[in-house]
Amino acid sequence: MKVSDAVNSRKSIRAFLNTPIHTSLLINLLKIASRSPSGGNLQPWHIYLLNGNKMNDFKNFMKNWESPEKPQYDIYPSNLKEPYRTSRFDLGEAMYNLLDISRDNKAARFAHLMENFNFFGAPAALFCFVDETMGPPQWSDLGMFLQTFMLLAQEEGIDTCAQEAWAFKPESLREFFSVPEELNIFCGMAIGYQDTQAKVNKLHSDRRSPDTWLKIFE
Ligand SMILES: Cc1cc2nc3c(=O)[nH]c(=O)nc-3n(C[C@H](O)[C@H](O)[C@H](O)COP(=O)(O)O)c2cc1C
Repeated sequence: MKVSDAVNSRKSIRAFLNTPIHTSLLINLLKIASRSPSGGNLQPWHIYLLNGNKMNDFKNFMKNWESPEKPQYDIYPSNLKEPYRTSRFDLGEAMYNLLDISRDNKAARFAHLMENFNFFGAPAALFCFVDETMGPPQWSDLGMFLQTFMLLAQEEGIDTCAQEAWAFKPESLREFFSVPEELNIFCGMAIGYQDTQAKVNKLHSDRRSPDTWLKIFE
C-alpha cells in the first residue's frame, strides 16, 4: 500500500468486531513505528499494549468507570475558538446524525461517549504515556509515533481509533497497570477490525479548506 493510500483510507473506527489480533503482529508494527522522528531523538513514547486475557481483566476492572477521576489534562481549551469550535461541533453532529441520536437525547449521546471505555468493542488497545518532565515538543513526538502506527496498521488491514478519552481515567490506568508516578497518560487507542455494518463507521470526517490553515509565500 502506498503511503498516500494509507493516509487517505485511514479513519477513526468506533465499532469493532471481536476478531482477535496476534500480539506479535502488533509488537512488530510498534517496533516499526518507533522509526518515527522525535526532537533530539528522545523517543519520549511509553506504550502499554493490551490484548488477550488481560483485555478481559481490564474491561472487568473498568466496570467501575462511572466514578469520576481528576483528568490528566484539559482535552480542549475551555473556550474553544472558531474555526475549531465549529469543526468539533460538526463532527459530533455528523456522528450523532448517523446514529439517529437527536441533540436533546443526552442519555444516548453520553452512552455513546462511554463506549470509549469499552474501546468500542475492540479486542486490543494501547496506551501512550509520557514522562511528566516532558513538554509540548515531546507531546508532539507522541503524535508522530501514533500516526505512524495507525498508518502501518492501515497497511495491515487493522483499524484504529485514537482515544484522548482515557485522559479522564488516569487513576484507573495507574492502578491496573502499576504505572510509575513519573508517567502521565496522553491517550489510548482502540485496535481491531471494523464492523463494516455499523452505522457509526460510515462517518467520513470533513477537513477545512487549506485557506483556513495554509499561507503561501512564493
Ligand atoms: C490524539 C487523538 C485523540 C482522539 N481521541 C478520541 C476519543 O477519545 N474518542 C473518539 O471517539 N475519537 C477520538 N479521536 C478521533 C478524532 O475524533 C478523529 O481523528 C477526527 O475526528 C478525524 O477523523 P478521522 O480520524 O476519522 O479522520 C482522537 C484523535 C486523536 C488524533
